[in-house]
Amino acid sequence: MIKEVTSEFAMRAFGQRLGRLLTGGEVIELVGDVGAGKTTLTKGIARGLDIDDDVQSPSFTISRVYDARDGLTLAHYDFYRLNDAGIMANELRENINDQSVVTVIEWAELVEGILPPGRIRIALSAPTATTRRLEITGPKELIEQL
Ligand SMILES: Nc1ncnc2c1ncn2[C@@H]1O[C@H](COP(=O)(O)OP(=O)(O)OP(=O)(O)O)[C@@H](O)[C@H]1O
Ligand SMILES: [Mg+2]
Repeated sequence: MIKEVTSEFAMRAFGQRLGRLLTGGEVIELVGDVGAGKTTLTKGIARGLDIDDDVQSPSFTISRVYDARDGLTLAHYDFYRLNDAGIMANELRENINDQSVVTVIEWAELVEGILPPGRIRIALSAPTATTRRLEITGPKELIEQL
């Protein structure tokens, strides 16, 4: 599925719609250059999971965890410029296998090998300063509802 959003607000709104559809156990891989909108989209997903906290890029801590609706947890990872996932790979594996966790990953190249085949993958590009193009692949049932 291809989706074009024309503002930061629309990106958040789209993320919120996706976030509302999540029931736990989903892994969402976000692919795109610096400034493509990965964190902005994640803020929307967090809103759709009823997370009130301000979601910030986890660049320095690599992962951040937020309490979400219905006993769910959002685990947000950012592996930017990391050369070795180290023990984070184990933590990530645990979260991926936990059906009460929604896992969102920016810069996932390093951990590509441990991501499940059924994940949601969103590739973001920026045709203009304010436009973002999203190419979404993943479970058909979920994508059809977006
Ligand atoms: N349509 C749009 N959707 C999302 N962001 C947009 C849009 N138009 C402009 N922007 C701007 O693009 C930037 C996106 O930044 P964001 O932190 O979400 O990117 P990122 O992909 O997470 O980058 P990084 O790789 O550094 O983590 C913000 O400054 C935002 O204001
Ligand atoms: Mg980011």
